[in-house]
Amino acid sequence: ASQEPSVPVVGQWEHRFCRLADTFQPVLDRVYEFEVRADDVWIVTLPKCGTTWMQELTWLLMNNCDFETAKSVDLTLRSPFLEFNGVVPNVPHDTIEAANAMPSPRLIKSHLPAWLLPRQIWTKRPKIIYVYRNPKDAAISYFHHWRGMVGYQGTKSDFMHSFIDGYVNFTPCWPHVLDFWQLRHEPHIFFTSYERMKAQLGEVIREVAQFLQRSVSAEQVEQMSQHLSFESMRDNPACNHVKEFESMKAAAGREVEEFSSPNHRFVRRGVVGSHKDELTADIIREFDLWSDINLRDYKLNMDDFANYSKYAA
Ligand code: A3P
Repeated sequence: ASQEPSVPVVGQWEHRFCRLADTFQPVLDRVYEFEVRADDVWIVTLPKCGTTWMQELTWLLMNNCDFETAKSVDLTLRSPFLEFNGVVPNVPHDTIEAANAMPSPRLIKSHLPAWLLPRQIWTKRPKIIYVYRNPKDAAISYFHHWRGMVGYQGTKSDFMHSFIDGYVNFTPCWPHVLDFWQLRHEPHIFFTSYERMKAQLGEVIREVAQFLQRSVSAEQVEQMSQHLSFESMRDNPACNHVKEFESMKAAAGREVEEFSSPNHRFVRRGVVGSHKDELTADIIREFDLWSDINLRDYKLNMDDFANYSKYAA
C-alpha cells in the first residue's frame, strides 16, 4: 500500500511501505478520508502486541467500568477494527459505516502505520494509545494466529523470516514502532508496552486513566485487574474472538478440523518471553541482529520501548 505521508510523519524512511493483503486494499482510501472526531480514542498497534487487552482496558475506563456490557457485548461491536472491512461475517461488514454511526466518544482499533491512518488524525488530534511488544513474542503469537485461525501451513522458520523481512500484514515492524515512539511526548499520544501491562497492570490502568482524564478508584483498578486477567479474558466470549474466528473459518469454506491447530485460542499463552522456548537460538540471533541494525541509529534497544512510561518521574 502506498499513500502520501500525512502531517507529522517522522523517521528516516524515504520509501514508505506497508505490507497488506488484498483484502485491505479496497478500504485504504476510505480509511484515509475517514471522519475523525476530536474525542475519539484510538488504539494503534502491530498485530499481537496486546491490542485486545488494551482495548478492553480502555473501553472500561471510557464506560465507567461497565463490566456487565463488557461481558455481554462483543468487543468488535464496542470498538471497531477500522480497516478490517467486510472480512468477518459476524462483525459489522462495513466497519467504516459502523464507526460513522457510533455515538461519541468512540474507541477505534487500527494496525495501520502512522502514515496510513486517517489524515484527520493529525489535525483533530484524538488521543492515541500505542502498545509495543517485543517483536520476537509478537511474531510467535502472530505465527500461532495465522496457523490456528487463518490456516497458514508454512513452517515456523518461514513465518519468522517473513516477519523480519516485512512480508506479513502491517509490517515492516520497526518503522511502525519508531513513528509512534518519536511522537510519545505529544500530549495526545500514549506509548506503552505489553511488557509493562504484564508487570504493572494496575499502574498502566491508572496511567491510561490519567491520559484520558478519567477518574478511577482503587477499587475499580482492582476490579479491572481481575476482569483483565489472562484467565478472565481467555474465558470471556465477548473479547476472546472465538466467535469471530469460527465464522471466518466457516466463511473460508473449510472445516475447523482442517486447520492445523483447531484448539488454538486467540488469548493463547499471555507471557513475556514466549519466544525463548518457541524459537531456535539461530532465529533469536537473527531477530536480535535485525533489531540492532534497525535501532542503532536511534541509540535505542528493545528495553527502552518495553520500559517506557509517559508519566514516570
Ligand atoms: P500470545 O499469543 O503470546 O498469548 P492482540 O490482541 O494484539 O492480537 O494480542 C494477542 C496477544 O495478547 C496474545 O498473545 C494473547 O494471549 C495476549 N493477551 C490477550 N489478553 C491478555 C491478557 N489478559 N493477559 C495477557 N496476555 C493477553
